[in-house]
Amino acid sequence: MTFPIVRHRRLRQSAAIRGMVRETVITVDDFVQPIFVTYGSNVKNEISSMPGVFHFSLDRLQEEVKEIVELGIPAVLLFGIPEQKDSVGTSAFVETGIVQEATRLIKSWYPDLLVVADTCLCEFTDHGHCGMVHTFERDGHVCGDVLNDESLELLVKTAVSQAQAGADIIAPSNMMDGFVQAIRHGLDEAGYTHVPIMSYSVKYASAFYGPFREAADSAPQFGDRKTYQMDPANAREALREAETDVLEGADMLMVKPALAYMDVIRMLRDQFDLPIVAYNVSGEYSMVKAAAKQGWINERAIVSEMLLGMKRAGADIIITYFAKDAARWLREGR
Ligand code: PBG
Ligand code: ZN
Repeated sequence: MTFPIVRHRRLRQSAAIRGMVRETVITVDDFVQPIFVTYGSNVKNEISSMPGVFHFSLDRLQEEVKEIVELGIPAVLLFGIPEQKDSVGTSAFVETGIVQEATRLIKSWYPDLLVVADTCLCEFTDHGHCGMVHTFERDGHVCGDVLNDESLELLVKTAVSQAQAGADIIAPSNMMDGFVQAIRHGLDEAGYTHVPIMSYSVKYASAFYGPFREAADSAPQFGDRKTYQMDPANAREALREAETDVLEGADMLMVKPALAYMDVIRMLRDQFDLPIVAYNVSGEYSMVKAAAKQGWINERAIVSEMLLGMKRAGADIIITYFAKDAARWLREGR
């Protein structure tokens, strides 16, 4: 009998030794917790397709933010559901917009908590697209083109008004060409040279956003987002998207969704030196919640494994609806 000389199991024999050789760790510092803010008062409504995630009106927001801060989560990502929608998404860039108001409140309560503002128009436009559209009829159907350069002006206004309200980081998710450059220029001109841009650089046209569109009331009313968001089949194109954002002054690069695009996270990690952000999106959250509710999976173990996978793939930062739960689990120990 010859014994194997190489024995991988030597380093797996106890929790202590496994801990010592562990390559990847998740910490609460990695997390960004998304929050949905809405108009009205005394609103804390659970989003039906996202159990455990709520719409908050401004007067109920503090309880949620307090919990996030107490758990040690360093950042929130704000999405707003406005009272009024119109064709250009005016509510996205007015001083009294829902995201702007929420930002001011949060920064007054917790100056050290980072407020990341999602910069897009789809929650604020009546047609639900991420930019301005030119609509026309074809064979009796309403169709539309999303206008690139015209949209940039509105997005710049939105970003500047978010910075004015005190947002620490601007996160443009609109996928127009040149949005990082336009927003960087707009922020700088308005005196916000210090405000970083977390660019949704590589954002796929994905079915995993389904629950979010219910949560944010932002489903497109005609067509889809395939003319501006990326084709899920493409990876090399992701490098081009990321490269232009780097050249245009992005400070962080995001890949979204996360789970089906781990290869893209890894490619960006290897190719660029900027912090990489993974967005663990709504559909990824809802699938886990649904299966856990059925008792088919162990939610905590599944979530830990997913988040670990994102970090192992190369993400430095993870935006996740599980942030509060995961922070609690980390606190309790594994
Ligand atoms: C807005 C936006 C979307 C998400 C983040 N910002 C939806 C979309 O592009 O349709 C998705 C987030 C999620 O699914 O959790 N552009
Ligand atoms: Zn959008």
